[in-house]
Amino acid sequence: MLFCSDIPPLRAWRAQVRRASQRVALVPTMGALHQGHLALVGLARQLADRVVLSVFVNPLQFGPAEDLARYPRDLDRDRRLADESGVDLLFAPAEEAMYPPGSEIRVHGGATAARWEGAVRPGHFDGVLTVVTKLFHLVEPEVAVFGQKDIQQATLIRRLARDFDLPVAIAVGPTVREADGLALSSRNAYLSPAGRREGLGLIQALRAAARRWSEGEHRADRLAAVLQETLAGFPGLTPDYIAIVDPERFEPVTEARVGTIVALAARVGSTRLIDNHILGTELP
Ligand code: PAF
Repeated sequence: MLFCSDIPPLRAWRAQVRRASQRVALVPTMGALHQGHLALVGLARQLADRVVLSVFVNPLQFGPAEDLARYPRDLDRDRRLADESGVDLLFAPAEEAMYPPGSEIRVHGGATAARWEGAVRPGHFDGVLTVVTKLFHLVEPEVAVFGQKDIQQATLIRRLARDFDLPVAIAVGPTVREADGLALSSRNAYLSPAGRREGLGLIQALRAAARRWSEGEHRADRLAAVLQETLAGFPGLTPDYIAIVDPERFEPVTEARVGTIVALAARVGSTRLIDNHILGTELP
């Protein structure tokens, strides 16, 4: 596996891979790799000849009161895991490489980015879309792979590629879960054992709503009540939002159909957890 912390060797590698007519898949991450990321690498390997994994804790997507300083970082471990999982090139740039002094142009997400995660974390998606645009220009992947756990992010990146005619396909890999259903996240590392038990409220709420929906309850307000009641059984969880939305614009729906997204965010102490389910798909 090649390791690059700067742009020129990445570009040189990319030119060589193009000459060999090989397809490249990019898996963008902020590091602290877990099985969820490695599953995305597995998907990327199926979709392309060569896989680039980026590790960059992007300051632009963190609000001033968020966890940028304490976000888990372990580049040596990430490097070993990436190598073992078949990554061809690990790109871990320094902040000055991604945002050289004086850089000020940003990608703005629009109305869809202002809802839900965007409402709770103002500017978050502008930061994500800006760094992903830059990564797409640097790596020039034929395909980029994101996780369903961050479903609003994945939707916005699909829109970014479409709206700007970027020549990249966006693939979305399923959420990877612990045996008890907790969605894998680098932020799970912040949870105490008791906090982790509270965190299970999200998957339990999603399961309860999915069950009620498959029994025939399609009214979004009634499904939202099911979600709310289930979350209320976890007193250590403070919900940020309960969203039952269309998959394109993330606008609330009144009638929940196949493909409607049920998305939740909640805090356990200072740790934010998110999870979601696409109605009509499997929920383990
Ligand atoms: O999902 C993430 O880890 C980040 O938001 C991403 C896509 C790597 C951009 O920094």
